[in-house]
Amino acid sequence: MEKFLWGGATAANQYEGAYDISGRGLSNVDLLPSGEKRSDVAKGILDPKDLPADSIYPAREAVGGYYHYKEDIALMAEMGFEVYRFSISWSRIFPHGDEIKTNEAGLKYYDQVIAECLKHQIEPLVTISHFDVPQGLIEKYGSWRDRRLVDFYLRYCETLFKRYRGKVRYWLTFNEINMVLHLPYLAAGITFRPNEDPLEVCYTVAHHELVASAKAVSLAHMIDPATKVGCMLAAGCIYPNTPDPKDSWQVVEEERKSYFFTDVQVRGYYPGYAKAMFAKKQLKIPIEPGDAAILQAGVVDFISLSYYNSRVLGEATKENTAGNVFSSLKNPYLKASEWGWQIDPLGFRITLNQIYDRYQKPLFVVENGLGATDVLEDDQIKDDYRITYLRDHIDALQKSRYEDGVEIWGYTTWGCIDLISASTGELKKRYGMVYVDLDENGHGSGKRLRKKSFYWYQDWIKQQK
Ligand code: BG6
Repeated sequence: MEKFLWGGATAANQYEGAYDISGRGLSNVDLLPSGEKRSDVAKGILDPKDLPADSIYPAREAVGGYYHYKEDIALMAEMGFEVYRFSISWSRIFPHGDEIKTNEAGLKYYDQVIAECLKHQIEPLVTISHFDVPQGLIEKYGSWRDRRLVDFYLRYCETLFKRYRGKVRYWLTFNEINMVLHLPYLAAGITFRPNEDPLEVCYTVAHHELVASAKAVSLAHMIDPATKVGCMLAAGCIYPNTPDPKDSWQVVEEERKSYFFTDVQVRGYYPGYAKAMFAKKQLKIPIEPGDAAILQAGVVDFISLSYYNSRVLGEATKENTAGNVFSSLKNPYLKASEWGWQIDPLGFRITLNQIYDRYQKPLFVVENGLGATDVLEDDQIKDDYRITYLRDHIDALQKSRYEDGVEIWGYTTWGCIDLISASTGELKKRYGMVYVDLDENGHGSGKRLRKKSFYWYQDWIKQQK
């Protein structure tokens, strides 16, 4: 049994900035603009090349984590973190993606980040690709449409596994792998071409990523048998709107769009409903002989997940709302965040139970938190709303562990330090327990300030030790 770890999480593209420093190449996320066009680019229906010249790209500077990582990790240590989840920027290591030689300066940066974690006895949990594809691979190969991406990704993985052998024990292959069906550019660098069948492209990309993920798991175990490699699912239970069986069937179908990925990554083979769907819709998925064995050999050690909200589906008789990209009907029993994401701690417990019931594999909650506008007054941020959200969700997590017998290895709050929102590109949608003094236009001192939730989480972790 693994020791349970408390901590927080960030991702390179939303935290680091420094997009052109020390030989780093451009990446898909550097071309995601702020503002109303962001969503169309993320969905793959607007080519970033067609954006106006004065577009603003928030990931390029983000919150300057590249320059602040020492002080940020010290703040995490002060909160008592036992684990820090962060991602490595692929194009810092392979600027165009298909080089043979690595960019040593990029690796040196992560050497230091990992050393800093270990200095503070914080276990690094590394996402290999968090919404991140080198632009070179998009331009030259059409991104994950092309099977050659599997080899480039594997070369990148091998570099990391060897360099950080004995230092990094937990790896995640792809952040929210199911997001590729919903935001294919953000998740996988895909902009649809004319005459392409979007569904066929998405499942082709999915297949290549699933093969790459399975190969990465096998490779990690070969290089260091002590490593634990997980998949990562954007999770959240779905309720039927009414007892009408049609609503429940809609839920089943929607859940399969997510479980498809974990079914393959955890069980090691394509589920029957996916094969039936490929046949019915006449999708040509380039599954090669030998892929079945690769998928079977590379099943994950644990399932990591993000949870922000639950959803409601059924006949659309009620108002729609937002929620981590997936649309949902409004749930009259729940309150919602400023961004319309429905707050449902019991839904968290339901989600954890559902996933564990399905797979009986250890879980790791690697994202959970509240995006909210914070007000800075006299250098203080009284974010009681965030404390309430975290306290209620942690309570649900503990009930899952102790009353329901769900095996969970850890919990990392999302955006433990304020960072750029993935869906909107905003900085005002803050998740952190540490405030970053920057505004929407990147103006400000960049200073880090402890919010009220910082002290709350510090106290919580202390009580658990
Ligand atoms: C998850 C992503 O979808 O949710 C994160 O893994 C993201 O990258 C987080 O930031 C919260 O979503 P948002 O859109 O509020 O930033």
